[in-house]
Amino acid sequence: MTLDIERCQCALNAVTPWSWAVNTRPALKMPVLLDATQTGRIDLTIQAGQVDFLGRGIKSPTKGFNGAFLGPVLRLPRRDTQVSITNQTQQPTTVHWHGMLIPGAVDGGPHEMIATGSSWRPVLPDHQPAATVWYHAHPHGRTARDVYSGLAGVIHIVDGRDDERGLPHSYGEDDFTLVLQDRYFDQSGAMVYDTSMPTRMHGLHGNAILVNGQYGTQLSVPKGWVRLRLLNGSNARIYPLSFADGREMHLVATDGGYLKAPVSLQQLWLSPGERYEILVDFSNGQAAVMRSEDDPNAMGGGSGFAVLPFVVDTSKKARMKKMPSDLGSTEAKWAVPGKTNRVLTLDMGMGPGMMMRGMSGGAGGFAISGESFDMHRINQQIKLGTVERWRVESSMMMHPFHVHGVQFKVLSMAGGTPPPQYQGWHDTVLVNGSVEFAMRFDEQASKEKPYMYHCHILEHEDAGMMGQFSVSA
Ligand code: C2O
Ligand code: CU
Ligand code: CU
Repeated sequence: MTLDIERCQCALNAVTPWSWAVNTRPALKMPVLLDATQTGRIDLTIQAGQVDFLGRGIKSPTKGFNGAFLGPVLRLPRRDTQVSITNQTQQPTTVHWHGMLIPGAVDGGPHEMIATGSSWRPVLPDHQPAATVWYHAHPHGRTARDVYSGLAGVIHIVDGRDDERGLPHSYGEDDFTLVLQDRYFDQSGAMVYDTSMPTRMHGLHGNAILVNGQYGTQLSVPKGWVRLRLLNGSNARIYPLSFADGREMHLVATDGGYLKAPVSLQQLWLSPGERYEILVDFSNGQAAVMRSEDDPNAMGGGSGFAVLPFVVDTSKKARMKKMPSDLGSTEAKWAVPGKTNRVLTLDMGMGPGMMMRGMSGGAGGFAISGESFDMHRINQQIKLGTVERWRVESSMMMHPFHVHGVQFKVLSMAGGTPPPQYQGWHDTVLVNGSVEFAMRFDEQASKEKPYMYHCHILEHEDAGMMGQFSVSA
């Protein structure tokens, strides 16, 4: 069978020609599932590895959790989980639980370094509804490199109620986890991390798309409704996603968990750090291609590219027969403040002096409200239990802004109504001009183990577009 829906003309995916003969493509593998719902514990090892991504016999150095690249999907119950993480690599690093509502003491930010040969054993408390969140390395100044090397994985927080909701939940059968990442491969086929000026300014952009760390695969799905849990684990690339045949994506969950009811979209923007869960209908048995427009932050738009082809295995039956109508989400139990409490500006330091500093190899002028990240400075102090309304402003580029320790409600974007995908709860939001959002601070973080807020373009974060805050009574 040949999928002839769309051919990629762009530089992306050009390192190895896409073969559209779907049946010659390897099947996409799901990450290993580490299920803590019975055991209440998770054991991870940070290790170095080598991967031949393009199948040309060229191995690239990588890092992963319990494997060479990326990590297992962690299935966490809604109760405390005992975690143990051992660092077997030569570099100290940290492991942050992005999207989890847990105290600063176990958040795994830049202050929680795990030295070579040692272990970190946090207990992750159950403080939130079911959601798809993730974990990744977060050492200050080296997050971009570590995540690029492979230190990231997905978490499913589950409550055992997906049957009531009418949602598919059989791992790798009708419930698929897709980690989207672009990587740069040189002529030989080796994955390389580029440190040039454009990369430092715009974040790393690759020339090939990996899904779950695999290149050039296809996904076989049952005939019927399928659930896709999407994570943008890229350093910088924003993916305006759609299906090439125009089929709808029915949004059922955002960063913080389920929506009240599905929202039908033709296009979904997936920016770095964000998760979205969608239902897609394959009951017509037709193959399909998930595609992306080029990064809206990039100069000079290309024609977009294919992300992943889907083929329907008619011998497999999908369990779900129709779209669910009531997902039973949790609404905010607090009122949105009428006035903005804090305004943060995302600075790229493009003034003449700052540009020079950027060029000379330093961190440049990357900062938030004029303050470049400093491990020793607490930028904001917040009172436990308060609801705040923040405005974040950007210029020059769009920046995915993330706050640790909370899920927030997006109120407005550039002064107007946010697009439909910004319903529900989020911990990361794409700032294009300005965004207002509100949240209640229900978890504590001390000045020694504070939370972070930052741009999730990892090169920007590493260069100083990050701040830290405490939450205390
Ligand atoms: Cu996903 Cu502070 O990070
Ligand atoms: Cu985070
Ligand atoms: Cu940024």
